[in-house]
Amino acid sequence: MILLRHPVCGTLRGARSLSTRASAILSSLDIPVGAAELPGVYDGQWSGSGEVLESVCPATGEVLARVRSATPDELHEALGKSKEAYLHLRTVPAPKRGELLRQIREALSEKRDVLGALVTLEMGKIKTEGIGEVQEFVDICDYAVGLSRMMNGRVVASERPGHTILEVPNPIGVVGVLTAFNFPVAVYGWNFALSVAAGNANVWKPSPSTPLCSIAITKIIARVLEKNGLPGAVSTLITGGKDVGEAIVESRDIPLVSFTGSEAVGRVVGKAVQSRFGKSILELGGNNASIIMPDADMQLAVPAVFFGAIGTAGQRCTSTRRLYLHRAIAPKFLDALQKLYATINVGDPLVDGTLLGPLHTRAAVGIYSDAVQRLRQSGAEILTGGKTYDHAALSQGNFVQPTISVPKTADPADKIWSTETFAPILNVDLFDELEQAIEWNNAVPQGLSSSLWTRDIRNLGKWIGPEGSDAGIVNVNVGTSGAEIGAAFGGNKSTGWGRESGGDAWKQYVRWSACTVNFSDAAPLAQGVDFST
Ligand code: UN1
Repeated sequence: MILLRHPVCGTLRGARSLSTRASAILSSLDIPVGAAELPGVYDGQWSGSGEVLESVCPATGEVLARVRSATPDELHEALGKSKEAYLHLRTVPAPKRGELLRQIREALSEKRDVLGALVTLEMGKIKTEGIGEVQEFVDICDYAVGLSRMMNGRVVASERPGHTILEVPNPIGVVGVLTAFNFPVAVYGWNFALSVAAGNANVWKPSPSTPLCSIAITKIIARVLEKNGLPGAVSTLITGGKDVGEAIVESRDIPLVSFTGSEAVGRVVGKAVQSRFGKSILELGGNNASIIMPDADMQLAVPAVFFGAIGTAGQRCTSTRRLYLHRAIAPKFLDALQKLYATINVGDPLVDGTLLGPLHTRAAVGIYSDAVQRLRQSGAEILTGGKTYDHAALSQGNFVQPTISVPKTADPADKIWSTETFAPILNVDLFDELEQAIEWNNAVPQGLSSSLWTRDIRNLGKWIGPEGSDAGIVNVNVGTSGAEIGAAFGGNKSTGWGRESGGDAWKQYVRWSACTVNFSDAAPLAQGVDFST
């Protein structure tokens, strides 16, 4: 039984109460509420006279704003400005760039909660997750402030007398950042913070359905840039659709493109960037599994799977989509999990206590329904969910019931298991041996996140070692989603092998030079080669 403690609105045409809140959120972020259209391009100046993008609230269907994207000329001009901004920023010492990031961190932190509310309003994730996402941007700024004094190269021993070799990182140029709707703030943050610390200008193309988040963030960054006398195009924003994406992907002035999105589009982006010998960071599909051993602490594992599968309404790349239960504990685990599912508060994601908000778009509801239908047709048992909500208060939003299904087939090559559906659908299967579960975990094309629940150190050793999970994120007694910024974030295989935020991710945002310096009075050749005449 779903408890509707917080219906979206009493009288929905009645998005009235939400509309009031929408206005409050937008005006606290300096976004004009009454304007018919907003400019969606920033390169030091705001412009935008191209096609209109609509920002639609996924909970109510209310149109929040109309944003003018870039015309081809505006796009061209913005790219030019970004290049100029790079030429300037690369001359600013790295710790000074860190100071800039510290100020941006402060400005974001001051507005964290209202920015989080905007994420909720426009993307649809619940408030605590919206705020958490902005916190990720704040955190990565902190990280990059420190990094700005630690982006060290190396001194390498030379085999030649009177010689030394330096490995030197320098700024790479303009970085293109193409982000997805599901993390409309944090993913730009991960890229922007490292990239600015490294001395690069950035061109951000957000998802066409979350332009307001990108405008709000850009306004905050722009103010800090202006205050510091730096070109606004250090953080260029170009809203738009495929054309803008293609222009960034194809531009020879953009040596590095960081793309977050589907495997299908990532394949095109990766090839296009490679074909001009650019570099790409790809963060594509996830199809993440949790494996529950018989010795798992159920008190911890059940809520973690619940959050992993339902959090963000199943719209994280790291959402838990596959659950492999040891046969010995399967009935108990499923019973406890279903009890939790039954308590979910669905409704207005801006209201405290709501745990399940809407899917981001109407189209996503169709994708969810198709996936459930496919499960049913293939003989899967739907333990809970499987429908949209028919409650009147939810009818204007994209609300779907979180679903647990037990597919008939265990074959990991079957589409049910091998494709990512961006919705709260959790497929369950039972295993007898850890090796079997690891094989299933690894058998899908994607390799983003994975999670093992056990108290046995032998299982842990196997899981994180060469015979273990082949994903980029390999957790133990921690769910598949909710990674911190300190470690490199990203996945293997069809997830694209990209790494962002922590770890060694910063090393991708610089060009490396090996510099051999001869400070002697002779010029010997390496490897003892004798070329004397
Ligand atoms: C994504 O879903 O694209 O680990 C990013 C997490 C978040 C980021 C997810 N920190 O779930």
